[in-house]
Amino acid sequence: MKIVVTGGAGFIGSHFIKYILKKHPGYKILNVDKLTYAGNLENLEEIKDNPDYSFVKEDICNRKTIENAISGYDVIVNFAAESHVDRSINEPEVFLKTDVFGTFNLLEICRTRGIKKYIQISTDEVYGSADYGETFTEESRLNPSSPYSASKAAADLLVLSYYKTYKMSINIVRSSNNYGPNQYPEKFIPLFVTNAIEDKKLPLYGDGRNVRDWLFVMDNCAGIDTVLHKGVSGEIYNIAGESERENIFIAKKILKYLGKSEELIQFVNDRPGHDRRYSISCEKIKRIGWRQKTSLEDGLRLTVEWYRDNRQWWEKIKSGEFLKYYKTHYK
Ligand code: NAD
Ligand code: TYD
Repeated sequence: MKIVVTGGAGFIGSHFIKYILKKHPGYKILNVDKLTYAGNLENLEEIKDNPDYSFVKEDICNRKTIENAISGYDVIVNFAAESHVDRSINEPEVFLKTDVFGTFNLLEICRTRGIKKYIQISTDEVYGSADYGETFTEESRLNPSSPYSASKAAADLLVLSYYKTYKMSINIVRSSNNYGPNQYPEKFIPLFVTNAIEDKKLPLYGDGRNVRDWLFVMDNCAGIDTVLHKGVSGEIYNIAGESERENIFIAKKILKYLGKSEELIQFVNDRPGHDRRYSISCEKIKRIGWRQKTSLEDGLRLTVEWYRDNRQWWEKIKSGEFLKYYKTHYK
């Protein structure tokens, strides 16, 4: 199989590329990534010379270059996105451009160039907050809260329209919060782990009791691989971690693993429109054979150890673009 992965230099995309090359020898992967602040080719260092892997630096909004590069490929798996809720609150426009228009562009390329299959990497955030103890299925209504999740929901609807109108073969994957090595340290877990390592405060939003469902990134990659090979065309599949925890629980666990004091936790102003809880059912993807392998306990410990042992990876990031952004918006 010849797969175009967009956004493959980011957190999940880079793990997915490494996962596929290992699991399916002989598969070819073309990584198309704009290398925004979140794209990092160091994530792909170990496979950069693999003859089955190639890379093109390109924006998914630019049709021409991508059209030429992907000729002969079978499937596009679209990870490329602006992915951070806080940034979408401060600077929403680029979310519309990449997450909506970029998706449209890739769908058009598939339609006009006869690419056989398109997989959209979406998020549980499109269902909005599960405030009343409910768990959303693939049939639940879309009710996004932030410019990020609204852009992702818009993209999902566009993908479904290409299935209905043009009979294109598509799937949508909606995963819960991923965590693991190589996640950009603006997201909750890597920010808290790296701050704790540096004895800096951990800025916990609101009362710290918002709930997220944590999914180890390799389990997500295995789920996307399951959909790629066994997904029924036109169908949406949720991938859940089945590990819902309050943020304060995760913060305390991280501090415990690192042997640091809970006094590092600092309650700060809440995020506007902050979703209280995410909760999705993954019964449907289980029916096509996916099972989660990594418990939250094991995955979190492994993740904390990775950041402890790979300081050179995140110190560079935290002293560069990230610091500039952080100073502009938070100080
Ligand atoms: P990330 O921010 O780490 O990486 C995004 C990647 O996309 C980067 O390499 C970036 O350079 C690239 N990119 C951004 N704009 C681009 C453009 N216009 N053209 C080409 N490349 C571009 O994101 P992530 O956490 O790896 O998330 C990947 C996907 O998974 C996203 O679509 C996100 O919505 C979805 N998702 C993420 C999570 C999570 O917890 N991280 C959960 C569910 C779904
Ligand atoms: P995040 O990693 O941004 O993912 P998302 O909001 O897309 O689920 O945040 C996860 C949770 O952690 C969310 O409830 C917001 C909270 N959070 C903090 O309390 N402090 C922080 O500095 C960040 C980045 C997030």
